Amino acid sequence: MEPKIAIFISGRGSNMNALLDAEGQGKLKGRIEVIISNNPKAPGLNVAHYYGKKTYVFPHENYGSREDHEKAIIRVLKKHEITHIVLAGYMRIISETLIGAYPRKIINIHPSLLPSFPGLHAQQKALEYGVRVAGCTVHLVTKDVDAGPILVQKTVPVYSNDTEESLSARILEQEHIAIVEATNLLLEGKFRIKGRRVIFDENEK
Ligand code: GRF
Repeated sequence: MEPKIAIFISGRGSNMNALLDAEGQGKLKGRIEVIISNNPKAPGLNVAHYYGKKTYVFPHENYGSREDHEKAIIRVLKKHEITHIVLAGYMRIISETLIGAYPRKIINIHPSLLPSFPGLHAQQKALEYGVRVAGCTVHLVTKDVDAGPILVQKTVPVYSNDTEESLSARILEQEHIAIVEATNLLLEGKFRIKGRRVIFDENEK
């Protein structure tokens, strides 16, 4: 059965857009079934409609708890027989409720070379720290924020005249490549987890 993907967004949705483009070009090993947002004003929702995708908005403030919010989302995911989830700029911490419903089937993209600079404003933190190389990470989602086993990382140089904007833009270009690569790795599922490490089958002798 073809994998069915749900993409979660909260804002602009450019990583979602990269996945939609990849799907359009026949480069995605699954079908993007639904787009989920916690933010009714997320500009990415318009992009999703443009691509003819079904969208669902779950404003988190309408729910009494994180668990209730996620349970409502899970009902929709199950209705659409979703098999995999991509968090693409989804600005909510997700809990055991959702992770337990999709164990090792959820990935997240983060704009730093983890474990450096987890959390918000990662690019600004990298700039202020003075690193010479920055980048992005796509990892499996576990209960600890920005801490799951790593599937894909991409690097970019940091220049002396960089601003948060210029560095973020350079990283974002790589995010759009990394998210497609990592989603395909997730969908293929030809790996196992050893400690923190993702071991791909073709490397096994
Ligand atoms: C990206 O930098 C992503 O790494 C971070 O939030 C940003 C979302 O951008 N988690 P977009 O909504 O995909 O354009």
